[in-house]
Amino acid sequence: MKLLVVGSGGREHAIAKKLLESPNVEQVFVAPGNDGMTLDGLFLVNIGISEHSSLIDFAKEHQIAWTFVGPDDALAAGIVDEFNQAGLKAFGPSKLAAELEWSKDFAKQIMVKYGIPTAAFGTFADFEEAKAYIEEQGAPIVVKADGLALGKGVVVAETVEEAVEAAREMLLDNRFGDAGARVVIEEFLEGEEFSLFAFANGDQYYIMPTAQDHKRAYDGDKGPNTGGMGAYAPVPHLPQSLVDKAVATIVEPVLKGMIAEGRPYLGILYCGLIVTAEGPKVIEFNARFGDPETQIILPRLRSDFAQNITDILNKQTPDIQWQEDGVTLGVVVASNGYPLDYDKGVALPAKTDGAITTYYAGAKFDENGKALLSNGGRVYMLVTTADTVSAAQDNIYTELAKQDTQGLFYRKDIGSKAVKS
Ligand code: AMP
Ligand code: GLY
Repeated sequence: MKLLVVGSGGREHAIAKKLLESPNVEQVFVAPGNDGMTLDGLFLVNIGISEHSSLIDFAKEHQIAWTFVGPDDALAAGIVDEFNQAGLKAFGPSKLAAELEWSKDFAKQIMVKYGIPTAAFGTFADFEEAKAYIEEQGAPIVVKADGLALGKGVVVAETVEEAVEAAREMLLDNRFGDAGARVVIEEFLEGEEFSLFAFANGDQYYIMPTAQDHKRAYDGDKGPNTGGMGAYAPVPHLPQSLVDKAVATIVEPVLKGMIAEGRPYLGILYCGLIVTAEGPKVIEFNARFGDPETQIILPRLRSDFAQNITDILNKQTPDIQWQEDGVTLGVVVASNGYPLDYDKGVALPAKTDGAITTYYAGAKFDENGKALLSNGGRVYMLVTTADTVSAAQDNIYTELAKQDTQGLFYRKDIGSKAVKS
């Protein structure tokens, strides 16, 4: 069969590469993808993620068996509904189910209604009311734009003034446009963060290995928030009992709740969690795979990925198998300046072979179509699997030290929370 993946980042590279490993898959197209993916035999389609009708035409013309949707904005724009209306299969939640991600207030309402543990909160469209709530609650406190804001809509404020300023920027200065027309203001939760992913179909779910992202730009969790600078899976110091509790108190009730709301959930459910003294609590739901978590989770899948998704789409029970031993760890290499302004056009090191996989995000061929150049904030990611976190770190950082990363930077401490614990 032929498959289509929608998106262009490292996440989509990892999804498409894994799909191509399946014996029944002849060809995987990625729209729009990035040039680095072609080194792995993937075919790029020059159609943007918001051009739904062109994507549908392409899928029909090329007899695509089904389409895997990577990015949140495409899901929020209802791409899966449009594919389905055109008689095509697509893996991802409907627009209404994806509201778990595209409205933080909606996600909070669901959590309250179905008793899912999360931070105490208030939702405000009026600045003066938001300000009064912040002053009443005190700091630290977290201010979140209700809608999608490219991961930049969350301010963890250390002081009341900072929180009020964040609410002002969102509600009065329109910093995030409509996405910030309402804000969710929530209690600051203390504890270690991890991500829990599941394949979901109605009330059926299949849990993936736990993962831990590193969202800040610089070592020691310093600097601005980014899309994610590196990750590893599974998180060895999280006890199975904690994962079981997260599944029972979060994954199961949210999926049941979405059915009760008439919005059954099909796709990847991404739970961003914090381990508090009272147990795991939700800081966010996403309606898709994470980036960079996908690049370290999918290499651990031992079953036939394309068959697993086909089965889920056909409402059959997939046979999903994960590698049990070792740890998979990956480090993102980004353009100097990311997540703010950055240069493009830096020559990239050769793609790695063997034990270390290179996943490309912002990569583009030069004019001759030969050398890969940087073309985005996050540029590429190196991923490997080893017996322990520190062995994986050694392998990746030894390779990175050999590469010419001029004009680029990466964190040197991915996985160090696990090593320390
Ligand atoms: P999000 O975009 O929702 O993932 O939030 C970005 C980051 O803000 C998270 O990775 C957390 O580190 C932090 N954060 C979000 N909500 C809270 C909260 N209620 N308490 C503490 N930290 C939070
Ligand atoms: N790694 C964070 C995200 O995908 O949202």
